[in-house]
Amino acid sequence: MSRLGIIGGSGLAKLDNLEITKREMVQTPFGEPSGPLITGMLSGHEVIFLARHGYGHTIPPHKINYRANIWAFQELGVKKIIAAAAVGGISNNMAPGRLAVPEQLIDYTYRREGSYFEGGESGIEHIDFTFPYSQSLREVLILAGEKANIDIAQGGIYGVTEGPRLETAAEVNKLARDGCTIVGMTAMPEAALARELNLDYVTCAFVVNWAAGRGDSIIDMKDIEKYMQVGTQQLRQLLAAVPALL
Ligand code: HPA
Repeated sequence: MSRLGIIGGSGLAKLDNLEITKREMVQTPFGEPSGPLITGMLSGHEVIFLARHGYGHTIPPHKINYRANIWAFQELGVKKIIAAAAVGGISNNMAPGRLAVPEQLIDYTYRREGSYFEGGESGIEHIDFTFPYSQSLREVLILAGEKANIDIAQGGIYGVTEGPRLETAAEVNKLARDGCTIVGMTAMPEAALARELNLDYVTCAFVVNWAAGRGDSIIDMKDIEKYMQVGTQQLRQLLAAVPALL
């Protein structure tokens, strides 16, 4: 069985229930990943974990070396990646505290290194990205939710913004008109890079705030902290149920 990669998002810089066996800093042709990749056993299965924002949460979304991160996973034999992400909720069913496994995304980012194919020696490649997420991994997460008794919104569209600032209310209205149900800053170029390397990739989003203009008032960081804790706790339980289903 291939190794499972887990990318921890905001609030998930470590997995408490991971029995760590190795930590390694992987060098890649694109520089260093966000930190050492941590190998360990989770529910009897070997997984490799990486905190996307670094272990001290020091790297903002627009500065993450996405190419090095995904390359490093491949280098260590990972074929499937579950990527956790804190997001804002846009549609009514995406209230703070909810987990979601989106089935589509829209990329609004504009200043990130987004491909391994830069022309010249690295070549030119146009990957098919009709369905950005692995359907089989989405099903695994949904099933894991059922097993662990965790409510998960199945589907929706993840709008990926550049950040690091949060959106204006008008921007969120535009995202809603585009069909986005959640908004975050990290699914791209991560998902596309995984596809370029033929890795199965899925986002497990947890909603930590109402997106700008959707809640009662302005976005409160204290509330985000609170929902971050709720979300990461649920996420840990969910992830522990995944290995048995692979
Ligand atoms: N917008 C963008 N990214 C986010 C948000 C948001 O409201 N919440 C958490 N990540």
